[in-house]
Amino acid sequence: MNTIITTIIVVSCITAVLAALLTISSRTIGNYGEVVLTINDDKEYVVNGGSSLLDTLRSERIFIPSACGGKGSCGYCKVKVIEGGGPVLATEKPLLTKEELEDSVRLSCQCKVKQNIKISIPEELFNVREYSAVVERTEQLTPTIKLLRFNFGNEEISFKPGQYIQLKAPAYEGNDEEVYRAYSIASSVTDKHAVELLIGYTGGIATTYVHHHLKEGDDVHVNGPYGDFYYHEDDGPIILAGAGTGMAPIMSILQFMADNNINRKVLFFFGARTMKDLFLLDKIKGFEEKLNDFKFVPTLSREESEEWHGEKGRVPAAIDKYIEKGENYSAYLCGSPAMIDSIVQALLLKDIPSEKIYYDKF
Ligand code: FES
Repeated sequence: MNTIITTIIVVSCITAVLAALLTISSRTIGNYGEVVLTINDDKEYVVNGGSSLLDTLRSERIFIPSACGGKGSCGYCKVKVIEGGGPVLATEKPLLTKEELEDSVRLSCQCKVKQNIKISIPEELFNVREYSAVVERTEQLTPTIKLLRFNFGNEEISFKPGQYIQLKAPAYEGNDEEVYRAYSIASSVTDKHAVELLIGYTGGIATTYVHHHLKEGDDVHVNGPYGDFYYHEDDGPIILAGAGTGMAPIMSILQFMADNNINRKVLFFFGARTMKDLFLLDKIKGFEEKLNDFKFVPTLSREESEEWHGEKGRVPAAIDKYIEKGENYSAYLCGSPAMIDSIVQALLLKDIPSEKIYYDKF
């Protein structure tokens, strides 16, 4: 009997000691104290270690694109880590190219700040801000695409035509996760107190929020602007090409050209399946009056109706038909990776220089 009691007491003591050790370790492991974050060699921040680089930067109001909300799946949050980033994790490798790995690029959502760390980021990211806005207008453009206008009130946003912002989708009934998703701005850069977005329904967290929960008058939170896809000054003719919500940055570029009386020849190729998938046609028609030499070429891949007298097939076929030699052209493309790759091939066959083909794959 005594042996049993002694055993119980010993086991209880060991358990209590282990529990105490676990509590102490959970309080100390992950606490790296204060460390110095140096950005672009000339800006220093004293920060608490232990969080991801992405979250640490956000706590200093420096916003890095992060479309997947830090899950390591979008690859948007790349940052060059010069010193102190530790080894590259297995979760990062699939999203980093060989060149990026050689150039010390990391996924900032995966790389933890544990010691003094030196990084390099584009200076434009210091202009990225967080904004609160009110949903001023929503409009169902097609069965799956909605236009949303967010008004910033007295606040102003400054962006380049073609850039994007990130919209915060908060938790809602049936979803307890808060995520950020990237959407190109469809409105004019001169419209500084509001932005318009075109958001297609995919069934994902953010598009379900937008299509099934968000209403006019609601508050929203966005940050931006981001992106190196934007209009470049040039004299030559210009090709714009997109499909679906890839229309958004193209509308912003067209509006910019109209606002600034830019008289370049413009050919806008838009790919859709059927007539039901065409939208903003009145607005696009308006550019025929506002721009000197503008042609809109919608091309439908699955339209059977005899009412359709326009182009049929995919965008590369239309490019082949409308462009003879393209050496002095530049091109701006926005759409799915597969669509962009096929259009780039068509443009290269027309001798359009690869350095003048700008694209935004989503
Ligand atoms: S935020 Fe998406 S991979 Fe880092």
